[in-house]
Amino acid sequence: MNGYSVIQLSMVPPTVHIPVLLQEVIQWSGLERPSTGSRTVVDGTLGGGGHAWHLIQALKPVDFLVGIDRDAGAIDRVSELFDQLLPPSSGPNADAPRSTCRVRLIQSSYRELPKLMVEHAIPKAECILLDLGLSSDQLEDRTRGFSFRTGGTLDLRFCTDEGISAADLLAKIDEKELADIIYQFGEERFSRRIARAIVERRRSNPVRTAEDLAELVHRCVPGGKIHGRIDSATRTFQALRIAVNNELEHLKTAIERLPDCLAPGGRLLIISFHSLEDRIVKHAMRECEQLQVLTKKPVLPSDAETYENPRSRSAKLRIAERV
Ligand SMILES: C[S@@+](CC[C@H](N)C(=O)[O-])C[C@H]1O[C@@H](n2cnc3c(N)ncnc32)[C@H](O)[C@@H]1O
Repeated sequence: MNGYSVIQLSMVPPTVHIPVLLQEVIQWSGLERPSTGSRTVVDGTLGGGGHAWHLIQALKPVDFLVGIDRDAGAIDRVSELFDQLLPPSSGPNADAPRSTCRVRLIQSSYRELPKLMVEHAIPKAECILLDLGLSSDQLEDRTRGFSFRTGGTLDLRFCTDEGISAADLLAKIDEKELADIIYQFGEERFSRRIARAIVERRRSNPVRTAEDLAELVHRCVPGGKIHGRIDSATRTFQALRIAVNNELEHLKTAIERLPDCLAPGGRLLIISFHSLEDRIVKHAMRECEQLQVLTKKPVLPSDAETYENPRSRSAKLRIAERV
């Protein structure tokens, strides 16, 4: 540790994201094992940079941290933060010995890691972390529609240069296909009713914003806005986000490809937030001959963590090691 660890990144603008299962990620990363040469750690879902920042504290100056995110805004935010917090590697002190590891941030999907390793001469990794889903920074961004509380245009894409926005999808998708998406990716019982209301409404006044969609869902779901502990629109937003980002396909291909990116003994850590993701991670890790599963049951956040950061309550961490 080199003295930077006292900083909680979520307290330093411009990020508000609090990393989940942070101590557990560091403990399971395997980075405390003795090492001789240089090590590489890949944070495949950089987000607000919280996990990456704490992984940097566990690395030596000879090591290398690679941060990847599909969202160019996340890469810009974390670059700005790390420029403020890490000692400069150029300028008058460029020849001075480094006090922290090398860092490289790349806008891409984690599933492209094998290609990125070749393009950027990245060595095989001792640790790869995926912390799935979206960050609090994205939830706060009013231009993307991730949150029905902060509102905004219903886009829901991590990378706005890829695919189509959720609003454009809702403007043209077939009703049955839409109901299937809301049912499968949102596990929403009232998917047919919601899909019918969206298609009926688009004849005169298509859904364009997060508020439009949330209001419509609240009218379709018995009990209105609050359904149990969560807002009844949450599942529909989750379903559309998974669909426009093709999230489950990215995850499935990644788990097939990432074992080849690990050094022998290297660890793959994946944090998921809903049962669809967790099922994919659990089965893919178990079935992969190159991996040995280290956690029969997933690692869960403590009561103290879920109390302090309610967003962590559905997090599940699974770990496997390259044989
Ligand atoms: C939960 S946040 C990560 C937070 C991060 N661990 C931290 O401590 O700040 C998830 C991030 O993953 C990114 N993401 C989602 N799918 C991705 C993919 N296929 N490839 C790369 N990044 C992805 C999202 O844009 C988001 O920034």
